Amino acid sequence: MGNEQQGGTTTAASKIEPATGKLGVMVVGLGAVATTFIAGVEAVRRGIAKPIGSLTQMGTIRLGKRTDNNSPLIREFVPIAQLNDLVFTGWDIFEDNVYESAAHAKVLDKDLVEQLKPFLETIKPLPAVFDQYYVKRLHGTHVKKGKNKRDLAEQVRADIQAFKKTVDRVVMIWCGSTEIFLEPTAVHQSIEAFEKGLETDDIGIAPSQIYAYAALSEGVPFANGAPNLTVDIPALIELSKKNAAPICGKDFKTGQTFMKTVLAPAFKARLLGVSGWYSTNILGNRDGEVLDDPESFKTKEESKLGSLEYIFQPELYPDLYKNIFHKVRINYYPPRGDNKEGWDNIDIFGWLGYPMQIKVDFLCRDSILAAPIALDLVLFLDLAKRTPELRSIGIQEWLSFYLKSPQTREGLYPEHDLFIQSMKLKNTLRHIMGADLITHLGLEYYD
Ligand SMILES: NC(=O)c1ccc[n+]([C@@H]2O[C@H](COP(=O)([O-])OP(=O)(O)OC[C@H]3O[C@@H](n4cnc5c(N)ncnc54)[C@H](O)[C@@H]3O)[C@@H](O)[C@H]2O)c1
Repeated sequence: MGNEQQGGTTTAASKIEPATGKLGVMVVGLGAVATTFIAGVEAVRRGIAKPIGSLTQMGTIRLGKRTDNNSPLIREFVPIAQLNDLVFTGWDIFEDNVYESAAHAKVLDKDLVEQLKPFLETIKPLPAVFDQYYVKRLHGTHVKKGKNKRDLAEQVRADIQAFKKTVDRVVMIWCGSTEIFLEPTAVHQSIEAFEKGLETDDIGIAPSQIYAYAALSEGVPFANGAPNLTVDIPALIELSKKNAAPICGKDFKTGQTFMKTVLAPAFKARLLGVSGWYSTNILGNRDGEVLDDPESFKTKEESKLGSLEYIFQPELYPDLYKNIFHKVRINYYPPRGDNKEGWDNIDIFGWLGYPMQIKVDFLCRDSILAAPIALDLVLFLDLAKRTPELRSIGIQEWLSFYLKSPQTREGLYPEHDLFIQSMKLKNTLRHIMGADLITHLGLEYYD
């Protein structure tokens, strides 16, 4: 590895197809996150604002030794698509175009949305695949009709095929609502079972899985920004590998879980014990309304609860983490809109068991945190699709950095620690470009 490189790249990199031409971005669900993402990209393209929070746009990557002073921008190191080459389309259960939906979401200032209006109003949603059984609080009006789920999947495939004619490559990202909690059943176990289930309208197949199936059947990478089961099933993992269509999920890691996966590794690194972690949120956007339904909340709850268990490894540290009381609440509170408030009360204990408390009060903006993640996932999945070593492996675990409940190969526990995730991501970029990996050993500086 790194045999021909000078802190730069090798022949490995030359095998990555270049990011030439237009990258089509198909967004499922044109709500708060999606419109903030799309409007943000346009604002950055016009030089009105900076892409803050986006690793692909502002991040650097160190190559070689610390003494080499070689830290290019990531977007100059790996061949990712340029923002000017992104073309957007999407689906929603409401007819509002992206301008109307952004105005409704009230995440961005009215002035900015007005300035971008001519562009935003050109993006009109295609009719969605929707069934209220899976999202109880929404009543879709702009929806496809079909004789069964297979027919609906064929209609989404036709949408993708039509879009493909206008761009060079396509990526799909789910920014739609949180569906009810689903567990894998027999219909999810193989492509054949899944396709049969589409024919018979199996209740285990949610709308998000119909979109994902259509994308993967078309060789289109798919990212899951919600906690929905979607591609986390053997059938769609198999399809992803078969058609060289990379996948990743699930659930954008934005506010509270982002903080959790920074703080928890710090306690663990210092061997500080934790007896309780109580997390509560108030938010008032449509996502909050959907999550007010217990069945959708259950999906979110599962996604939010997992991180601490994996980070603390109570089986290795029973004295410190065996009896953590971990609770997560989400309360729908309309006055706050998208400006969520996430409180954490953390009961920790130190030397000789003496207790201490930490309080975190994160007054965040949900979609402002999620938009750059959506952008990076789209750009990195497109990169994965063009990279021979990544395109046929299915799950892109190196993108765990962005996700609350990272999808991994069966039997492999997920890595939640944000800094390990960050290192994994950057080392993956170094690896595919043929640059030396960075281990942080550093003894060579003292030879
Ligand atoms: N920080 C964050 O905002 C954040 C973090 C993690 C995950 N998420 C998840 O991202 C998703 C989007 O969040 P949001 O705040 O933009 O919500 P939102 O309610 O504003 O937007 C979701 C959109 O999806 C549409 N939709 C629902 N079902 C659909 C379907 N089957 N087909 C097409 N469109 C459909 C809805 O009509 C709505 O416009 C949610 O699942 C949320 O839980 C958001």
